[in-house]
Amino acid sequence: NMSEFGIIGMGVMGKSLALNLADTNTGISIYNRHLAGKEEKIAEKVLEENPGYENMKAFDQLVPFLESLTSPKKIMLMIPAGTAVDMQVEELLPYLEAGDVLIDGGNSFYKDTTKRAAYLKEKEILFLGAGVSGGEEGARKGPAIMPGGSKEGYDLVAPFLEKIAAKDYRGKPCLTYVGPEGAGHFVKMVHNSIEYGEMQVIAEVYYLMRYYLDLAPDRIAAIFETWMEGDLSNYLLEITIDILRKEEDGGLLLDKILDQAAQKGTGGWSVNTALEYGVPYSGLTEAVMARNISSRKAFRMIASGMYGSEKLTGIEEEEAFLDKLQKAYQAARIINHETGFSLMLEVSEKNKWELNFSEIARIWTNGCIIRSFLMEELVGIFKESSRLILHDEAVRALKGYQNDLSYVVGQALQHGFAVPVLSSSINYFLSCITGYSAANLIQAQRDYFGAHTYQRTDRDPGESFHTQWKK
Ligand code: 6PG
Repeated sequence: NMSEFGIIGMGVMGKSLALNLADTNTGISIYNRHLAGKEEKIAEKVLEENPGYENMKAFDQLVPFLESLTSPKKIMLMIPAGTAVDMQVEELLPYLEAGDVLIDGGNSFYKDTTKRAAYLKEKEILFLGAGVSGGEEGARKGPAIMPGGSKEGYDLVAPFLEKIAAKDYRGKPCLTYVGPEGAGHFVKMVHNSIEYGEMQVIAEVYYLMRYYLDLAPDRIAAIFETWMEGDLSNYLLEITIDILRKEEDGGLLLDKILDQAAQKGTGGWSVNTALEYGVPYSGLTEAVMARNISSRKAFRMIASGMYGSEKLTGIEEEEAFLDKLQKAYQAARIINHETGFSLMLEVSEKNKWELNFSEIARIWTNGCIIRSFLMEELVGIFKESSRLILHDEAVRALKGYQNDLSYVVGQALQHGFAVPVLSSSINYFLSCITGYSAANLIQAQRDYFGAHTYQRTDRDPGESFHTQWKK
């Protein structure tokens, strides 16, 4: 009896997806190459550690793995993004036939996926680039899956992916055909970018509570718990509560963790893409920059010694500030999502991908890292407007919260606290709602020094003007 589905790469994500699929009684084959100079049979070990799966076969050799699969072959790659994917594709190609389906389930850069899709199309291989979100637990119990590429390939593997995906509150799988080419990986990239923003906002809010209001971590956890009861409920906040309560050797573990945030690229790629498409990307850019600054630990220690990093605390009426902080957090979250979705809107239009934002929000309501009550609301909102910030509900919310966000940012800055994402969120928002900006001055300056010309509000929009500015 042959296997219906194959998974290559038994890292954390590959292994978890394999066990998830094996739980659905699907016949599956798993494969992992030998690490250079090592004897260890990695796929076999998965089987040994998880006995009782008679429907799962493990291989340390590629050819027998491929021979164990029914035709058309359905193979998912769960290997590191980059050249490893190209190398694996090349190794597979001699053994693949027209109509076989290959899914790249890693965090590949979407332009690489577009290239691979074109290359494999020539060879009549049905290629999909699929974003998979949810970390280890999501992969094991149900991730959100964002496949793009060959629609024909999607239709062949959808029955399998449906079985392993998380379910939304209606019971529908958190899986959809996102769009052609690299659209699936593009959408996953933006998911991660929003993830960076959401994480950084929580970090800023926590930091203000801890060091501006001088609250103990367990108190902060308790406050976050009350926030979780309402509209602010979201997975990243939920895990933060656990983190704020995790003790080790009688102290908070968090306090022993080096304040240097790592990144694997997706957040920064989104910023590059925003630049490439001319999309304003303020807060989500700052979330990446915050990680970059954090990584300069030694430099920060020197600078903090030179400038004195003393921060003023405890001068605020606690309850009143917490109330404002809660609203500021809500506003910043809406703006984070607005920013990410507006990048998707622009890129979708330019590439004619026809991304369905309501459907993307729907598959992000469960399984993935940025699942939240807000995301549930976005499902309905994007049915009515492709621009979140122009939807009635967002207008009502942001009108209600904008002063609180401004206040919190003002207080934070005045008292020596960096709040890069909160502050760029309010700047982004205020810039968006400014009908008449100072960009006319920029145009005048450009024309002054470079004769770049400008358009006038009292003339035809197509007409260009140049002025001899110098007296
Ligand atoms: C997810 C995560 C996952 C991973 C990212 C983020 O959606 O499950 O986004 O894909 O955690 O790679 O990683 P970095 O923070 O290292 O960039």
